[in-house]
Amino acid sequence: MSRSAHPAGPRHADVLPEGHYSAPPTDLNALDSKVWAETVTRDTDGVLTVGGIDVRRLAEEFGTPAYFLDEDDFRARARSWRTAFGDDADVFYAGKAFLSRAVVRWLHEEGLNLDVCSGGELATALSAGMPAERIAFHGNNKSTDEIRRAVEAGVGRIVLDSFQEIVRVAHIAQELGTRQRVQIRITVGVEAHTHEFIATAHEDQKFGIPLAGGQAAEAVRRALTLDGLELIGIHSHIGSQIFDMSGFEVAAHRVVGLLRDIRDEHGVELPEIDLGGGLGIAYTSDDDPREPHEIAKALTEIVTRECDAARLATPRISVEPGRAIVGPTAFTLYEVGTVKPLDGLRTYVSVDGGMSDNIRTALYDAEYSVALASRVSEAEPMLCRVVGKHCESGDIVVKDAFLPGDLAPGDLIAVPATGAYCRSMASNYNHVVRPPVVAVRDGEARVIVRRETEEDLLRLDVG
Ligand code: LLP
Repeated sequence: MSRSAHPAGPRHADVLPEGHYSAPPTDLNALDSKVWAETVTRDTDGVLTVGGIDVRRLAEEFGTPAYFLDEDDFRARARSWRTAFGDDADVFYAGKAFLSRAVVRWLHEEGLNLDVCSGGELATALSAGMPAERIAFHGNNKSTDEIRRAVEAGVGRIVLDSFQEIVRVAHIAQELGTRQRVQIRITVGVEAHTHEFIATAHEDQKFGIPLAGGQAAEAVRRALTLDGLELIGIHSHIGSQIFDMSGFEVAAHRVVGLLRDIRDEHGVELPEIDLGGGLGIAYTSDDDPREPHEIAKALTEIVTRECDAARLATPRISVEPGRAIVGPTAFTLYEVGTVKPLDGLRTYVSVDGGMSDNIRTALYDAEYSVALASRVSEAEPMLCRVVGKHCESGDIVVKDAFLPGDLAPGDLIAVPATGAYCRSMASNYNHVVRPPVVAVRDGEARVIVRRETEEDLLRLDVG
């Protein structure tokens, strides 16, 4: 990295040569249904609406920035995962994508289970009435207190992530006079990307127990000997925002290989296999996600085929979609504060939020779409970068976007597909308060997570 200062040029601002950008969309006012929640549309005045409510009204009532979540869409997506997998499989919604008590209730009502990965998520799930046996507890470094609470609550499964944890959970369960149902999370040596996968002999990351070198087999051996544990299956999660099923295919092949070895060595056929989450969604019109029924069919076929080949009874499959359920159901509404054209470069559009409500662009170079929401415009498209209000030049919400050339302070703009990993990863950077989540359904809007206040911030600061 160069540390010397020198006169900057466009090159250093990451400006791509002219002609690089795909042409602006023919209609800047159009809403691609792939990236917008189900009930989002424009009313006769051209104003964006969700659940039948106009965003100008929503902004007035709830302020900006705010996440607006289409409850019907959430329920429909949850249901379609549930029905796609049917009664012979289990769908665990991954709470890390976004969790609140309202969400827990919707999941419960729609017949889904819940994957939690911290004491906080567990507390949220239990306080909203999710039956403990429908909760899976994850995490690569669960504290003994978290494990104890999970076992005491009677969670349906704990997913074991290390050799130490095998002993810890067994010990705590025994102390509490119970046998805890567990799965072992293994790393199968598959790294999944959007359109490809690369097989790696040794996975260089913190999760799970490697299949390589017989470590996973050894973990199974130990788990089977401990009285406090009931080993029900093997877990594998290969990554996130995946469109291609081939990574799952390799993972299933390797997990089933382990199930076969377990049967051969111990005479035990483990009844469950969890293939994790990670299914991709459309953030821009270029993304082409698969439907839950296609995913269910593909995964079931892969596992059945692999089990037939190994002469194993097909285990009960479970999956853990987070983003694919909640991601597309929400958009973030911002008010434009400043519009700053930089000659020959692009126009910087500053909004009243930023990296504190969406860290994904800065963290993963994630791509998002954006639309003028409070009105339509026939003005020429201008190349924009939507940025936040934080003291950091990497505070970018949408890196490259076309917005109408007459965009002005006071306009509302909406960024779709922010339901997953935006509120849940939000921060108070620069002491900015975190936005509310407002659920909208059938012409009614209700706050499910309220906006933080400066008093909230000061309450934690004990002086
Ligand atoms: N199951 C396990 C064990 C996981 O670790 C994850 C995600 C999921 C399920 C759900 O994955 P999903 O279906 O939501 O992709 N913050 C990142 C994503 C991190 C995902 C971590 N684990 C992002 O904003 O893209």
